[in-house]
Amino acid sequence: MMFSKAEMFNRKASHPKYRANEIMKVLALSEGAVVADIGAGGGYFAMRFAETVGSEGKVYAIDTDRKLLAYIEKCAEKNRIANIETILTGERGVVLPEQSCDLIFLRNVFHHLRQPEDYFRSLKNFLRPKGRVAVIDYKKPRAVMRFISPIGHYAEERFIRETMRKAGYVLVESHDFLPEQSFNIFQAAENGK
Ligand SMILES: C[S@@+](CC[C@H](N)C(=O)[O-])C[C@H]1O[C@@H](n2cnc3c(N)ncnc32)[C@H](O)[C@@H]1O
Repeated sequence: MMFSKAEMFNRKASHPKYRANEIMKVLALSEGAVVADIGAGGGYFAMRFAETVGSEGKVYAIDTDRKLLAYIEKCAEKNRIANIETILTGERGVVLPEQSCDLIFLRNVFHHLRQPEDYFRSLKNFLRPKGRVAVIDYKKPRAVMRFISPIGHYAEERFIRETMRKAGYVLVESHDFLPEQSFNIFQAAENGK
């Protein structure tokens, strides 16, 4: 059976190895929250967020790939999920309503960003006070794995943290239960430029 790119992303995101339930637990979203899933892929997490935040909440499923967004729209319709809005974006940044998001979530997307510091600096405009940015990405593969891992499909945790600090964020949580990925949560620094 052939799977589409969207289905492949969702199969991976939902595989027990990647611990989606624990990720959801840690994020502890409230009903009514507004979430931006940047680089939403096949929408596995966007759907879960939509279910959790309920009809009073909202999820922006954002991607540079129109076909992935069409897939998410189709799944949302099929599952009668009405609180997902898809947004087709360019590579350099996203436009969202100012101060609208309780959580901005990027899973396996950081390593795609060409100018991550600028990217995250501009995202601060879309966070509500106390809003969070959660970044999950592949850690640098161990030497033996580098032969079979696609080149550059990871972001070193140190680099993620340093980039976020420069972009005006502070680290508020870090989790190490994911076997292959780092998981850090940030908030805008009080004096973040
Ligand atoms: C490896 S997939 C991860 C998909 C999803 N987050 C997940 O965890 O299953 C990376 C996704 O990011 C999207 N993407 C790449 N660069 C992007 C950018 N600059 N802005 C928004 N989305 C981007 C890709 O189209 C793709 O859907």
